Amino acid sequence: MKNIILIGFMGVGKGSVAREVIKNSKYMAIDTDDLIESMENRRIKTIFEQDGEEYFRKLEKNVSKWLEKSVQNTLISTGGGFYKQTNIKKIGIIVLLDSPFDAIIKRIKEHPNAAKKLKKRPLLADLEKAKELYDVRRPEYLKLADIIVDVSAKSVEDCSSELLKKVNKYV
Ligand code: S3P
Repeated sequence: MKNIILIGFMGVGKGSVAREVIKNSKYMAIDTDDLIESMENRRIKTIFEQDGEEYFRKLEKNVSKWLEKSVQNTLISTGGGFYKQTNIKKIGIIVLLDSPFDAIIKRIKEHPNAAKKLKKRPLLADLEKAKELYDVRRPEYLKLADIIVDVSAKSVEDCSSELLKKVNKYV
């Protein structure tokens, strides 16, 4: 089993889909942001505040090297900027969770923990800037992806079963 790497914009539901996929498959799951937070023993938001985005990107690079060398049979959910790692193709099959920007923001705002979800993501603090970032990234995500799952207007369960079907066909 190759690794599956979930990429996509902040708030698209990578964590929720990953949790559903592992319920229905033999994959184990890890999350690049969780790895960074435990390595640093601080929240992503605090890392950005105390050391800046560039430092955070260095930590993502370290994680990407470790994933390439040491991780197999795993569903890896990633932060929205992790796709820039130059070795990402060597880590596994890349699955993009795709959604229009407005649907992402609606999904976050309707969540019971909306305030927390927005607060923990420094790059969502200014929605106009976040939309600009989305517009830059979306074509790059599409170019990189081996598999695309459109997650807008679908349940987490449906996204997960579509993902597993597409991955099984792909390998
Ligand atoms: C980021 C996305 C975040 C987190 C960090 C930077 C980005 O993860 O890695 O705040 O550059 O898009 P999520 O995509 O899980 O929100």
